[in-house]
Amino acid sequence: MRAGPKILAIESSCDETACAVVEGLQVRASVVASQVAIHAAYGGVVPELASRHHLTAAVPVLRAALVQAGLPLHELDALAVTEGPGLVGALLVGVQMAQGLALATGLPLHGIHHMEGHLLSPFLGDHATAARDFVPHLALSVSGGHSELVLVEGLARYQVLGSTRDDAAGEAFDKVAKLLGLGYPGGPVIDRLAREGDPQAIAFPRAMLDRQRFEFSFSGLKTAVAVHLQQHGQPSSRAALADLCASFQAAVVDVLVMKARLARRKFGCVAMTIVGGVSANHGLREAMAAAARQDGFELWTPELRYCGDNAAMIAAAAALRVQAGLAPGVRVFASGAIDEVRR
Ligand code: KG4
Ligand code: ZN
Repeated sequence: MRAGPKILAIESSCDETACAVVEGLQVRASVVASQVAIHAAYGGVVPELASRHHLTAAVPVLRAALVQAGLPLHELDALAVTEGPGLVGALLVGVQMAQGLALATGLPLHGIHHMEGHLLSPFLGDHATAARDFVPHLALSVSGGHSELVLVEGLARYQVLGSTRDDAAGEAFDKVAKLLGLGYPGGPVIDRLAREGDPQAIAFPRAMLDRQRFEFSFSGLKTAVAVHLQQHGQPSSRAALADLCASFQAAVVDVLVMKARLARRKFGCVAMTIVGGVSANHGLREAMAAAARQDGFELWTPELRYCGDNAAMIAAAAALRVQAGLAPGVRVFASGAIDEVRR
């Protein structure tokens, strides 16, 4: 097993309460308590409910992670916690618990940018897989709150090449699922249905914007789906629903892959990652794998369990930061670009 600092991390930025222990990039424990079932009834995350449920889940999740890791607190080298971006009330629960642990143990506490965690998720390994070396690359970072292409030049050296002008990719999945009455979150259910459907059944628009720039726009696509439903009504069969999902997903994937390929060529990256909740999407993974074979670049994707929010990725970011000699410290912020991370 690759040696590295032993880190315990807490993640509570949105609707997952998570705790993990890593040793370098090797995951020793990763526990995630999802609140999806609670928020599904409201069609999206209710911030106040998220905070309250983090409060009840935090200690049991921490205990479970420590048991899974089989590591006493005094053998850890540092603590980490997601400090933002996210829901402030939700973040505060994790940060308060981490500060309490830091006070009790005397361990340094590293505040981690949530998207830095996602960026590092393809480099995690666990008992079944080997961790990858962290090297410069291009990242397509696609989640419920973010859609951006990031040049990862090194640890804490991130250059945002372009992001979305309106909705994030995951947000588009969630909003279209809502239009179709498929519940929250929309990504996994659309992904499942899309596998049964014909991606060419409906010609939804691809907002490529300026081909020399790396910005995305997904709100027009969402409107196109809404207009289609107004004109044709809700799909009358499972096959028609699957065709609509496949056509919508193909429109999202085409734009993401096209822009990622353009950026990779322009910046001459030999490797690319896809990270964030939407990186679990089968259509996106398959299309990007095909592009990698065609264009000749390496593609690294996170294990499915590390695509969505988890604390292993937060712990990994702290492990690399400790190894690089970066100073600890924590703050809390609702929004903040990845290229503004602490160095
Ligand atoms: O990274 P994440 O768990 O939380 C944020 O940091 O936002 O991402 C959640 C987003 C949601 O919008 C969800 O619908 C989307 O990721 N998602 C997917 C899939 N699984 C989750 N989108 C497309 N296909 C999926 N399989
Ligand atoms: Zn996330």
